[in-house]
Amino acid sequence: MVLQAIRYSRGQLEILDQLKLPHTEEYDHVYSSTDAWHAIKEMRTRGAPAIAMVAALSLAVELVNLKLSPIAEEVKVFIIEKLDYLVTSRPTAVNLADAARKLKTVTEEAAGRDGATGEAVREAYVKAAETMLIDDVSDNESIGGHGAEWIVNNTEAGKKGQVSMLTHCNTGSLATAGYGTALGVIRSLHGKGALKHAFCSETRPYNQGSRLTAFELVHDQIPATLITDSMAAALLRLKGSSENIAAIVVGADRVAANGDTANKIGTYSLAILAKHHGVKFLVAAPRTTIDLHTKSGEDIVIEERPGKEVTLVKGPRHDGVTLDLAVVETVSIAANGIGVWNPAFDVTPAELIDGIITEVGVVEKDDSGLFHLEEVFKKESSQAKPSTIGGI
Ligand code: MRU
Repeated sequence: MVLQAIRYSRGQLEILDQLKLPHTEEYDHVYSSTDAWHAIKEMRTRGAPAIAMVAALSLAVELVNLKLSPIAEEVKVFIIEKLDYLVTSRPTAVNLADAARKLKTVTEEAAGRDGATGEAVREAYVKAAETMLIDDVSDNESIGGHGAEWIVNNTEAGKKGQVSMLTHCNTGSLATAGYGTALGVIRSLHGKGALKHAFCSETRPYNQGSRLTAFELVHDQIPATLITDSMAAALLRLKGSSENIAAIVVGADRVAANGDTANKIGTYSLAILAKHHGVKFLVAAPRTTIDLHTKSGEDIVIEERPGKEVTLVKGPRHDGVTLDLAVVETVSIAANGIGVWNPAFDVTPAELIDGIITEVGVVEKDDSGLFHLEEVFKKESSQAKPSTIGGI
């Protein structure tokens, strides 16, 4: 069974409720952009690419099921208002704003054509949103291929044989339209027999690693081990050589023009550990996550989420022997009255990043330590032909 966070057919959209994973697989219907806004805010759907696609497709479903005005301008205004509303759901991941910008352009062009009708504008929007879903999967497969090739050829561990990898948060089929970004690189290494073992960090406080990435790795029968976030340093020090750990690979929510990268809280710590222990630190992200309009990490807005996401955990009851899926409980794991700081993301500075893996190849820094990310927008998406941009 293929893991699908998003089930879409024209006029119908369902999302896998990721708050109930890994123990319960339940799909929620999304009938409108309002449904999508709440699903994104509550993190029933999450991951930068998936957020963008659920938002874009929710409006496509709304448009298909609505009795629309025949007037192109009215439909255009309706679409733009809804896209502006959807972008307010969560601030850090740029993919949603990038999709909204592109869909506005498609909508304005369709409405501007001679004899344009409301129906024509709807059709142009729906087609463009549907194409985004298809493109995301093929882009992720390219990212996986380029990343695996680069790791095998450009790391000491890769030259020794099968490699182990550490990843953070969830960047797989559950965070995208399919295959995944950083987890896609691990899937591609496994697919080509180059993977020894995958380590995934729990990723407190939302536990995307222990709940979602572990779920995908077990689902795909990829040899894997879960660690808490606090164990990463000891893992690199005590098992780095015996497990032949080649790199830490993570996803991204927004890559600034200079390469500074916003990703799940805890990513910055891992980048420092990678530098200290001499393993590569790689960011895997489609070009829809690269934001050339944001000059550096300082300009990235970091979402802060409610403290209860840190102090409470929710899950099915376990009596020490068996799991009782019928009883879901919320337990407090913190002292009452304590203050909580809960930034959902942090920024890893470009100098700690060895490569940015995109669907058109791996971007490395030039001799003066600078990324040239504008170059990736000059290239066509390419299947896994080894491609390094910038450094060579
Ligand atoms: O808060 P989340 O779960 O949406 O955060 C997700 C991440 O940080 C991912 O690493 C990122 O969005 C890339 S998903 C391919």
